[in-house]
Amino acid sequence: MSNLWIRKPLEHLLEQAGDSEKGLKRTLGAVNLVTLGIGAIIGAGLFVRTAAAAAQAAGPSVTLSYIVAAVGCAFAGLCYAEFAAMIPIAGSAYTYAYATLGELMAWVIGWALIMEYALGAATVAIAWSEYLNKLLGGAIPPEWCHSPFDSTHPGIMNAPALIILVLLTGILIRGTQESATVNAVIVFIKVAIVLIFIAIGFQFINPGNYEPYMIPAGTEGHEGTFKHGWGGVLGGAAIVFFAFIGFDAVSTAAQEAKRPERDMPIGILGSLVVCTILYVLFSHVLTGVANWQEFKTAGREASVAYAISTHMAGYEWLATAVTVAILAGFSSVILVMLLGQSRVFYSMAHDGLIPKVFSELHPKFRTPYKSNILLLLFVGAFAGFVPGDVAGDLTSFGTLLAFVLVSAGVLVMRRINPNQARPFRTPLVPLVPILGIIICAGMIVAIDATTLKAALGWMIIGLVVYFAYSRHHSKLKP
Ligand code: ALA
Repeated sequence: MSNLWIRKPLEHLLEQAGDSEKGLKRTLGAVNLVTLGIGAIIGAGLFVRTAAAAAQAAGPSVTLSYIVAAVGCAFAGLCYAEFAAMIPIAGSAYTYAYATLGELMAWVIGWALIMEYALGAATVAIAWSEYLNKLLGGAIPPEWCHSPFDSTHPGIMNAPALIILVLLTGILIRGTQESATVNAVIVFIKVAIVLIFIAIGFQFINPGNYEPYMIPAGTEGHEGTFKHGWGGVLGGAAIVFFAFIGFDAVSTAAQEAKRPERDMPIGILGSLVVCTILYVLFSHVLTGVANWQEFKTAGREASVAYAISTHMAGYEWLATAVTVAILAGFSSVILVMLLGQSRVFYSMAHDGLIPKVFSELHPKFRTPYKSNILLLLFVGAFAGFVPGDVAGDLTSFGTLLAFVLVSAGVLVMRRINPNQARPFRTPLVPLVPILGIIICAGMIVAIDATTLKAALGWMIIGLVVYFAYSRHHSKLKP
Protein backbone atom coordinates (compact mmCIF):
# COMPACT_ATOMS: atom_id res chain seq x y z
CA MET A 1 0.00 0.00 0.00
CA SER A 2 1.35 3.39 -0.88
CA ASN A 3 1.66 6.42 1.30
CA LEU A 4 -1.07 8.95 0.52
CA TRP A 5 1.33 11.86 0.11
CA ILE A 6 4.10 10.01 -1.67
CA ARG A 7 5.48 12.02 -4.57
CA LYS A 8 6.70 10.58 -7.80
CA PRO A 9 10.37 11.47 -8.10
CA LEU A 10 11.09 13.77 -10.99
CA GLU A 11 13.88 11.44 -12.22
CA HIS A 12 11.31 8.65 -12.77
CA LEU A 13 9.19 10.96 -14.83
CA LEU A 14 12.07 12.20 -16.90
CA GLU A 15 13.21 8.62 -17.56
CA GLN A 16 9.71 7.86 -18.76
CA ALA A 17 9.84 10.90 -21.04
CA GLY A 18 13.05 9.74 -22.64
CA ASP A 19 11.80 6.22 -23.12
CA SER A 20 10.13 6.70 -26.49
CA GLU A 21 11.16 3.29 -27.87
CA LYS A 22 8.40 1.42 -26.09
CA GLY A 23 5.94 4.20 -25.48
CA LEU A 24 3.84 6.67 -27.43
CA LYS A 25 5.39 7.96 -30.66
CA ARG A 26 6.83 11.48 -30.80
CA THR A 27 5.24 12.81 -33.98
CA LEU A 28 3.84 16.27 -33.23
CA GLY A 29 5.54 19.60 -34.06
CA ALA A 30 4.76 23.16 -32.91
CA VAL A 31 2.21 23.85 -35.65
CA ASN A 32 0.44 20.53 -34.92
CA LEU A 33 0.26 21.47 -31.26
CA VAL A 34 -1.13 24.99 -31.82
CA THR A 35 -3.69 23.47 -34.20
CA LEU A 36 -4.54 20.79 -31.64
CA GLY A 37 -5.15 23.54 -29.10
CA ILE A 38 -7.37 25.54 -31.45
CA GLY A 39 -9.16 22.28 -32.28
CA ALA A 40 -10.09 21.79 -28.65
CA ILE A 41 -10.83 25.44 -27.88
CA ILE A 42 -13.19 26.85 -30.53
CA GLY A 43 -16.61 25.22 -30.18
CA ALA A 44 -19.89 25.76 -28.42
CA GLY A 45 -18.41 28.41 -26.16
CA LEU A 46 -17.87 30.93 -28.95
CA PHE A 47 -20.97 30.22 -30.99
CA VAL A 48 -23.46 29.80 -28.16
CA ARG A 49 -22.15 31.52 -25.05
CA THR A 50 -21.11 34.87 -26.57
CA ALA A 51 -24.71 35.95 -27.09
CA ALA A 52 -25.75 34.45 -23.75
CA ALA A 53 -23.08 36.44 -21.89
CA ALA A 54 -24.08 39.65 -23.72
CA ALA A 55 -27.77 39.14 -22.96
CA GLN A 56 -27.39 38.10 -19.34
CA ALA A 57 -24.53 40.16 -18.00
CA ALA A 58 -22.23 42.17 -20.18
CA GLY A 59 -24.03 43.68 -23.18
CA PRO A 60 -21.55 44.81 -25.87
CA SER A 61 -18.76 44.73 -23.28
CA VAL A 62 -18.74 40.94 -23.68
CA THR A 63 -15.54 41.69 -25.61
CA LEU A 64 -14.03 42.78 -22.28
CA SER A 65 -15.43 39.61 -20.67
CA TYR A 66 -13.43 37.62 -23.20
CA ILE A 67 -10.30 39.54 -22.29
CA VAL A 68 -10.85 38.95 -18.55
CA ALA A 69 -11.45 35.21 -19.07
CA ALA A 70 -8.38 35.04 -21.31
CA VAL A 71 -6.22 36.69 -18.63
CA GLY A 72 -7.44 34.12 -16.08
CA CYS A 73 -6.61 31.30 -18.50
CA ALA A 74 -3.26 32.87 -19.36
CA PHE A 75 -2.11 32.66 -15.72
CA ALA A 76 -2.98 28.96 -15.62
CA GLY A 77 -1.60 28.51 -19.15
CA LEU A 78 1.79 29.92 -18.14
CA CYS A 79 1.91 27.42 -15.27
CA TYR A 80 0.92 24.55 -17.58
CA ALA A 81 3.64 25.60 -20.01
CA GLU A 82 6.35 25.38 -17.32
CA PHE A 83 5.32 21.85 -16.38
CA ALA A 84 4.67 20.59 -19.91
CA ALA A 85 8.14 21.69 -21.04
CA MET A 86 9.79 20.33 -17.91
CA ILE A 87 7.97 16.97 -17.60
CA PRO A 88 7.02 16.11 -21.16
CA ILE A 89 4.97 12.99 -20.57
CA ALA A 90 1.31 12.16 -21.10
CA GLY A 91 -1.11 12.88 -18.28
CA SER A 92 -0.89 16.64 -17.90
CA ALA A 93 -2.20 17.99 -14.59
CA TYR A 94 -2.42 14.49 -13.14
CA THR A 95 1.28 13.88 -13.73
CA TYR A 96 2.31 17.31 -12.41
CA ALA A 97 0.27 16.75 -9.25
CA TYR A 98 1.93 13.35 -8.73
CA ALA A 99 5.35 14.98 -8.78
CA THR A 100 4.45 17.90 -6.55
CA LEU A 101 1.41 17.38 -4.33
CA GLY A 102 1.56 13.60 -3.86
CA GLU A 103 -0.42 10.55 -4.90
CA LEU A 104 -3.78 11.36 -3.32
CA MET A 105 -3.93 14.80 -4.94
CA ALA A 106 -2.80 13.28 -8.23
CA TRP A 107 -5.67 10.82 -8.00
CA VAL A 108 -8.13 13.61 -7.17
CA ILE A 109 -7.02 15.60 -10.17
CA GLY A 110 -7.03 12.56 -12.47
CA TRP A 111 -10.58 11.87 -11.35
CA ALA A 112 -11.58 15.53 -11.90
CA LEU A 113 -10.06 15.45 -15.38
CA ILE A 114 -12.54 12.69 -16.28
CA MET A 115 -15.20 15.34 -15.72
CA GLU A 116 -13.39 17.74 -17.99
CA TYR A 117 -12.51 15.42 -20.84
CA ALA A 118 -14.89 12.44 -20.83
CA LEU A 119 -18.01 14.32 -19.76
CA GLY A 120 -16.93 17.25 -21.92
CA ALA A 121 -16.74 14.96 -24.95
CA ALA A 122 -20.19 13.50 -24.17
CA THR A 123 -21.76 16.97 -23.78
CA VAL A 124 -20.32 18.20 -27.04
CA ALA A 125 -21.38 14.99 -28.86
CA ILE A 126 -24.97 15.62 -27.76
CA ALA A 127 -24.77 19.22 -28.98
CA TRP A 128 -23.29 17.95 -32.27
CA SER A 129 -26.34 15.77 -32.78
CA GLU A 130 -28.67 18.76 -32.22
CA TYR A 131 -26.88 20.90 -34.77
CA LEU A 132 -26.72 18.08 -37.31
CA ASN A 133 -30.47 17.73 -37.07
CA LYS A 134 -30.81 21.50 -37.53
CA LEU A 135 -28.62 21.41 -40.64
CA LEU A 136 -30.71 18.53 -42.03
CA GLY A 137 -33.91 20.47 -41.43
CA GLY A 138 -35.10 18.15 -38.64
CA ALA A 139 -34.89 15.01 -40.83
CA ILE A 140 -33.66 12.71 -38.04
CA PRO A 141 -36.62 10.93 -36.36
CA PRO A 142 -36.91 12.43 -32.86
CA GLU A 143 -36.75 9.05 -31.11
CA TRP A 144 -33.30 8.49 -32.62
CA CYS A 145 -31.77 11.78 -31.54
CA HIS A 146 -32.95 12.00 -27.93
CA SER A 147 -32.02 10.06 -24.84
CA PRO A 148 -34.70 7.97 -23.09
CA PHE A 149 -34.41 10.37 -20.13
CA ASP A 150 -34.89 13.58 -22.10
CA SER A 151 -37.46 15.70 -20.25
CA THR A 152 -39.22 17.06 -23.34
CA HIS A 153 -38.77 14.37 -26.05
CA PRO A 154 -37.94 11.00 -24.49
CA GLY A 155 -36.53 8.84 -27.28
CA ILE A 156 -34.73 5.53 -27.80
CA MET A 157 -31.19 6.82 -28.00
CA ASN A 158 -29.15 9.67 -29.37
CA ALA A 159 -27.76 7.84 -32.40
CA PRO A 160 -25.87 10.72 -34.13
CA ALA A 161 -24.00 11.46 -30.88
CA LEU A 162 -22.89 7.83 -30.75
CA ILE A 163 -21.95 7.74 -34.43
CA ILE A 164 -19.67 10.78 -34.20
CA LEU A 165 -17.96 9.24 -31.15
CA VAL A 166 -17.38 5.95 -32.96
CA LEU A 167 -15.94 7.74 -36.00
CA LEU A 168 -13.60 9.92 -33.96
CA THR A 169 -12.46 6.99 -31.81
CA GLY A 170 -11.56 5.14 -35.01
CA ILE A 171 -9.37 8.07 -36.09
CA LEU A 172 -7.71 8.25 -32.68
CA ILE A 173 -6.82 4.57 -32.73
CA ARG A 174 -5.37 4.91 -36.21
CA GLY A 175 -2.67 7.24 -34.90
CA THR A 176 -1.91 10.56 -33.28
CA GLN A 177 -0.40 12.03 -36.42
CA GLU A 178 -3.52 10.97 -38.37
CA SER A 179 -5.74 12.50 -35.69
CA ALA A 180 -3.68 15.69 -35.86
CA THR A 181 -4.19 15.82 -39.63
CA VAL A 182 -7.97 15.36 -39.40
CA ASN A 183 -7.99 17.98 -36.65
CA ALA A 184 -6.03 20.40 -38.85
CA VAL A 185 -8.56 20.12 -41.68
CA ILE A 186 -11.42 20.77 -39.27
CA VAL A 187 -9.60 23.70 -37.68
CA PHE A 188 -9.03 25.22 -41.11
CA ILE A 189 -12.77 25.05 -41.88
CA LYS A 190 -13.94 26.52 -38.59
CA VAL A 191 -11.35 29.28 -38.41
CA ALA A 192 -12.06 30.23 -42.05
CA ILE A 193 -15.76 30.59 -41.31
CA VAL A 194 -15.09 32.61 -38.15
CA LEU A 195 -12.84 34.95 -40.16
CA ILE A 196 -15.41 35.28 -42.96
CA PHE A 197 -18.09 36.16 -40.41
CA ILE A 198 -15.81 38.79 -38.87
CA ALA A 199 -14.83 40.28 -42.25
CA ILE A 200 -18.34 40.47 -43.68
CA GLY A 201 -20.00 41.31 -40.38
CA PHE A 202 -17.75 44.37 -39.90
CA GLN A 203 -19.59 46.08 -42.77
CA PHE A 204 -22.94 45.56 -41.07
CA ILE A 205 -21.98 46.98 -37.69
CA ASN A 206 -24.41 49.60 -36.40
CA PRO A 207 -22.36 51.79 -34.00
CA GLY A 208 -25.57 52.61 -32.12
CA ASN A 209 -25.56 49.03 -30.80
CA TYR A 210 -22.47 49.85 -28.70
CA GLU A 211 -24.30 52.63 -26.80
CA PRO A 212 -24.05 52.23 -23.86
CA TYR A 213 -21.10 49.84 -23.91
CA MET A 214 -21.84 48.31 -20.51
CA ILE A 215 -25.30 47.52 -19.17
CA PRO A 216 -26.26 50.58 -17.05
CA ALA A 217 -27.17 50.16 -13.38
CA GLY A 218 -30.93 50.13 -12.93
CA THR A 219 -31.64 48.20 -16.15
CA GLU A 220 -34.63 45.95 -15.55
CA GLY A 221 -33.66 42.33 -14.99
CA HIS A 222 -29.99 43.26 -14.32
CA GLU A 223 -30.15 44.01 -10.59
CA GLY A 224 -27.41 41.60 -9.42
CA THR A 225 -23.80 42.73 -8.94
CA PHE A 226 -22.60 40.54 -11.79
CA LYS A 227 -25.31 41.61 -14.22
CA HIS A 228 -24.40 45.19 -15.12
CA GLY A 229 -21.42 47.52 -15.41
CA TRP A 230 -17.97 46.16 -14.59
CA GLY A 231 -19.57 43.44 -12.45
CA GLY A 232 -21.39 42.35 -15.58
CA VAL A 233 -18.09 42.12 -17.41
CA LEU A 234 -16.96 39.62 -14.75
CA GLY A 235 -20.27 37.76 -14.84
CA GLY A 236 -19.86 37.51 -18.60
CA ALA A 237 -16.31 36.21 -18.14
CA ALA A 238 -17.59 33.30 -16.04
CA ILE A 239 -20.06 32.45 -18.83
CA VAL A 240 -17.54 32.63 -21.69
CA PHE A 241 -14.84 30.79 -19.72
CA PHE A 242 -16.20 27.59 -21.27
CA ALA A 243 -15.03 28.89 -24.67
CA PHE A 244 -11.40 28.64 -23.53
CA ILE A 245 -11.57 25.12 -22.13
CA GLY A 246 -9.29 22.89 -24.10
CA PHE A 247 -5.97 24.72 -24.32
CA ASP A 248 -4.74 22.56 -21.46
CA ALA A 249 -5.49 19.47 -23.57
CA VAL A 250 -2.34 20.32 -25.54
CA SER A 251 -0.31 19.32 -22.49
CA THR A 252 -1.79 15.81 -22.46
CA ALA A 253 0.01 15.19 -25.77
CA ALA A 254 3.40 16.17 -24.33
CA GLN A 255 4.71 12.64 -24.71
CA GLU A 256 3.97 12.76 -28.42
CA ALA A 257 5.67 16.11 -29.06
CA LYS A 258 8.92 16.03 -31.01
CA ARG A 259 10.56 18.91 -29.14
CA PRO A 260 8.42 19.34 -26.05
CA GLU A 261 10.71 21.78 -24.26
CA ARG A 262 10.22 24.32 -27.04
CA ASP A 263 6.92 23.31 -28.61
CA MET A 264 4.76 22.75 -25.52
CA PRO A 265 4.82 26.43 -24.43
CA ILE A 266 4.24 27.45 -28.05
CA GLY A 267 1.31 25.01 -28.38
CA ILE A 268 -0.38 26.01 -25.13
CA LEU A 269 0.16 29.77 -25.19
CA GLY A 270 -0.01 30.10 -28.99
CA SER A 271 -3.45 28.52 -29.26
CA LEU A 272 -4.65 30.66 -26.38
CA VAL A 273 -3.45 33.87 -28.05
CA VAL A 274 -4.92 33.01 -31.48
CA CYS A 275 -8.29 32.11 -29.96
CA THR A 276 -8.41 35.22 -27.76
CA ILE A 277 -7.90 37.48 -30.78
CA LEU A 278 -10.59 35.64 -32.76
CA TYR A 279 -12.99 35.71 -29.81
CA VAL A 280 -12.63 39.44 -29.17
CA LEU A 281 -13.16 40.28 -32.84
CA PHE A 282 -16.05 37.86 -33.18
CA SER A 283 -17.88 39.15 -30.12
CA HIS A 284 -17.29 42.77 -31.19
CA VAL A 285 -18.87 42.07 -34.58
CA LEU A 286 -21.74 39.99 -33.22
CA THR A 287 -22.83 42.66 -30.71
CA GLY A 288 -22.34 45.36 -33.36
CA VAL A 289 -24.50 43.59 -35.96
CA ALA A 290 -27.36 42.77 -33.58
CA ASN A 291 -28.29 44.66 -30.43
CA TRP A 292 -27.48 42.70 -27.28
CA GLN A 293 -31.10 43.02 -26.14
CA GLU A 294 -32.18 40.91 -29.11
CA PHE A 295 -30.26 37.95 -27.69
CA LYS A 296 -32.76 37.87 -24.85
CA THR A 297 -35.69 37.24 -27.14
CA ALA A 298 -35.75 36.30 -30.84
CA GLY A 299 -31.97 35.80 -31.04
CA ARG A 300 -31.71 33.63 -27.96
CA GLU A 301 -31.28 30.39 -29.82
CA ALA A 302 -28.86 29.95 -32.72
CA SER A 303 -27.79 33.55 -32.04
CA VAL A 304 -25.16 33.83 -34.77
CA ALA A 305 -27.48 32.49 -37.48
CA TYR A 306 -30.17 34.85 -36.15
CA ALA A 307 -27.88 37.89 -36.37
CA ILE A 308 -26.93 37.01 -39.94
CA SER A 309 -30.41 36.32 -41.25
CA THR A 310 -31.96 39.34 -39.52
CA HIS A 311 -29.29 41.99 -40.09
CA MET A 312 -27.04 40.89 -42.93
CA ALA A 313 -29.29 40.83 -45.98
CA GLY A 314 -27.96 38.74 -48.86
CA TYR A 315 -25.75 36.55 -46.67
CA GLU A 316 -28.13 33.72 -45.77
CA TRP A 317 -25.52 31.22 -46.98
CA LEU A 318 -23.28 32.45 -44.19
CA ALA A 319 -25.86 31.30 -41.63
CA THR A 320 -25.59 27.77 -43.06
CA ALA A 321 -21.79 28.04 -43.17
CA VAL A 322 -21.82 28.96 -39.48
CA THR A 323 -23.77 25.78 -38.71
CA VAL A 324 -21.15 23.81 -40.65
CA ALA A 325 -18.41 25.58 -38.66
CA ILE A 326 -20.19 24.66 -35.46
CA LEU A 327 -20.41 20.99 -36.46
CA ALA A 328 -16.76 21.01 -37.49
CA GLY A 329 -15.83 22.82 -34.28
CA PHE A 330 -17.67 20.33 -32.13
CA SER A 331 -16.00 17.39 -33.89
CA SER A 332 -12.51 18.62 -33.18
CA VAL A 333 -13.39 19.52 -29.59
CA ILE A 334 -14.60 15.92 -29.09
CA LEU A 335 -11.53 14.54 -30.85
CA VAL A 336 -9.03 16.37 -28.66
CA MET A 337 -11.03 15.73 -25.47
CA LEU A 338 -11.04 11.98 -26.19
CA LEU A 339 -7.34 12.14 -26.98
CA GLY A 340 -6.66 13.98 -23.73
CA GLN A 341 -8.71 11.56 -21.64
CA SER A 342 -7.03 8.46 -23.05
CA ARG A 343 -3.60 10.01 -22.37
CA VAL A 344 -4.52 10.80 -18.77
CA PHE A 345 -5.73 7.19 -18.37
CA TYR A 346 -2.51 6.00 -20.00
CA SER A 347 -0.45 7.69 -17.33
CA MET A 348 -2.71 6.60 -14.47
CA ALA A 349 -2.56 2.97 -15.66
CA HIS A 350 1.20 3.22 -16.06
CA ASP A 351 1.36 4.17 -12.39
CA GLY A 352 -0.92 1.26 -11.40
CA LEU A 353 -3.74 3.50 -10.15
CA ILE A 354 -6.18 2.11 -12.73
CA PRO A 355 -5.99 -1.30 -14.49
CA LYS A 356 -3.17 -1.96 -16.92
CA VAL A 357 -5.50 -2.36 -19.88
CA PHE A 358 -5.64 1.46 -20.13
CA SER A 359 -1.98 1.69 -21.02
CA GLU A 360 -1.70 -1.13 -23.53
CA LEU A 361 -0.59 0.15 -26.89
CA HIS A 362 -1.67 -1.08 -30.31
CA PRO A 363 1.15 -3.19 -31.79
CA LYS A 364 1.19 -1.21 -35.02
CA PHE A 365 -0.33 2.21 -34.38
CA ARG A 366 1.23 2.64 -30.91
CA THR A 367 -1.92 4.29 -29.59
CA PRO A 368 -3.69 3.16 -26.38
CA TYR A 369 -6.45 1.49 -28.39
CA LYS A 370 -8.04 -0.56 -25.63
CA SER A 371 -8.33 2.57 -23.55
CA ASN A 372 -9.91 4.38 -26.51
CA ILE A 373 -12.48 1.60 -26.90
CA LEU A 374 -13.36 1.48 -23.18
CA LEU A 375 -13.63 5.24 -23.21
CA LEU A 376 -15.97 5.04 -26.19
CA LEU A 377 -18.25 2.74 -24.17
CA PHE A 378 -18.24 5.12 -21.20
CA VAL A 379 -18.62 8.37 -23.11
CA GLY A 380 -21.05 6.71 -25.55
CA ALA A 381 -23.30 5.59 -22.70
CA PHE A 382 -23.52 9.21 -21.54
CA ALA A 383 -23.93 10.68 -25.00
CA GLY A 384 -26.48 8.12 -26.18
CA PHE A 385 -28.63 7.86 -23.10
CA VAL A 386 -28.22 10.92 -20.84
CA PRO A 387 -29.71 14.38 -21.56
CA GLY A 388 -27.23 17.08 -22.60
CA ASP A 389 -27.72 19.73 -19.93
CA VAL A 390 -26.35 17.54 -17.13
CA ALA A 391 -22.67 17.58 -17.96
CA GLY A 392 -21.78 21.09 -19.27
CA ASP A 393 -20.98 22.86 -15.99
CA LEU A 394 -19.25 19.79 -14.56
CA THR A 395 -16.77 20.23 -17.40
CA SER A 396 -15.98 23.75 -16.19
CA PHE A 397 -15.60 22.49 -12.61
CA GLY A 398 -13.12 19.75 -13.55
CA THR A 399 -11.11 22.19 -15.63
CA LEU A 400 -10.96 24.92 -13.00
CA LEU A 401 -9.91 22.46 -10.31
CA ALA A 402 -7.08 21.30 -12.57
CA PHE A 403 -6.04 24.93 -13.17
CA VAL A 404 -5.91 25.64 -9.42
CA LEU A 405 -3.82 22.55 -8.68
CA VAL A 406 -1.42 23.09 -11.57
CA SER A 407 -0.85 26.71 -10.47
CA ALA A 408 -0.24 25.52 -6.90
CA GLY A 409 2.03 22.80 -8.29
CA VAL A 410 4.35 25.37 -9.87
CA LEU A 411 4.87 27.00 -6.47
CA VAL A 412 5.56 23.62 -4.82
CA MET A 413 7.91 22.44 -7.57
CA ARG A 414 9.94 25.66 -7.42
CA ARG A 415 10.45 24.96 -3.73
CA ILE A 416 11.19 21.22 -3.80
CA ASN A 417 13.19 21.15 -7.01
CA PRO A 418 14.62 24.63 -7.43
CA ASN A 419 17.57 23.60 -9.54
CA GLN A 420 15.85 21.38 -12.07
CA ALA A 421 16.26 22.63 -15.67
CA ARG A 422 13.15 24.51 -16.73
CA PRO A 423 13.11 25.09 -20.49
CA PHE A 424 10.17 27.44 -19.95
CA ARG A 425 9.78 29.43 -16.75
CA THR A 426 6.46 30.89 -15.63
CA PRO A 427 7.17 34.64 -15.29
CA LEU A 428 6.66 36.62 -12.07
CA VAL A 429 6.47 33.63 -9.70
CA PRO A 430 4.79 33.62 -7.17
CA LEU A 431 2.46 36.36 -8.48
CA VAL A 432 1.25 34.58 -11.64
CA PRO A 433 0.47 31.21 -9.97
CA ILE A 434 -1.19 32.94 -7.02
CA LEU A 435 -3.40 35.01 -9.33
CA GLY A 436 -4.15 31.81 -11.30
CA ILE A 437 -5.29 30.12 -8.08
CA ILE A 438 -7.39 33.08 -6.92
CA ILE A 439 -9.14 33.71 -10.25
CA CYS A 440 -9.88 30.04 -10.96
CA ALA A 441 -10.99 29.30 -7.38
CA GLY A 442 -13.25 32.39 -7.66
CA MET A 443 -14.84 30.96 -10.78
CA ILE A 444 -15.39 27.59 -9.00
CA VAL A 445 -17.25 29.40 -6.22
CA ALA A 446 -19.46 31.06 -8.86
CA ILE A 447 -20.60 27.69 -10.29
CA ASP A 448 -24.20 26.88 -9.31
CA ALA A 449 -24.90 24.80 -6.22
CA THR A 450 -26.45 21.81 -8.01
CA THR A 451 -23.37 21.35 -10.16
CA LEU A 452 -21.11 21.65 -7.13
CA LYS A 453 -23.12 18.93 -5.37
CA ALA A 454 -22.88 16.62 -8.39
CA ALA A 455 -19.14 17.30 -8.59
CA LEU A 456 -18.74 16.52 -4.90
CA GLY A 457 -20.62 13.23 -5.40
CA TRP A 458 -18.29 12.35 -8.26
CA MET A 459 -15.21 13.14 -6.19
CA ILE A 460 -16.48 10.97 -3.30
CA ILE A 461 -16.92 8.02 -5.68
CA GLY A 462 -13.34 8.70 -6.78
CA LEU A 463 -12.05 8.51 -3.22
CA VAL A 464 -13.84 5.20 -2.67
CA VAL A 465 -12.17 3.79 -5.79
CA TYR A 466 -8.80 5.12 -4.64
CA PHE A 467 -8.97 3.54 -1.19
CA ALA A 468 -10.54 0.28 -2.45
CA TYR A 469 -8.31 -0.29 -5.47
CA SER A 470 -5.71 2.25 -6.52
CA ARG A 471 -3.86 2.62 -3.27
CA HIS A 472 -3.17 -1.11 -3.19
CA HIS A 473 -2.07 -1.28 -6.82
CA SER A 474 0.10 1.83 -6.92
CA LYS A 475 3.52 1.01 -8.35
CA LEU A 476 5.17 3.72 -6.31
CA LYS A 477 6.39 2.15 -3.08
CA PRO A 478 7.68 4.17 -0.15
N1 ALA B 1 -13.91 25.31 -25.58
C1 ALA B 1 -14.74 24.27 -26.03
C2 ALA B 1 -15.99 24.78 -26.60
O1 ALA B 1 -16.22 25.96 -26.55
C3 ALA B 1 -14.99 23.27 -24.95
O2 ALA B 1 -16.79 24.00 -27.11
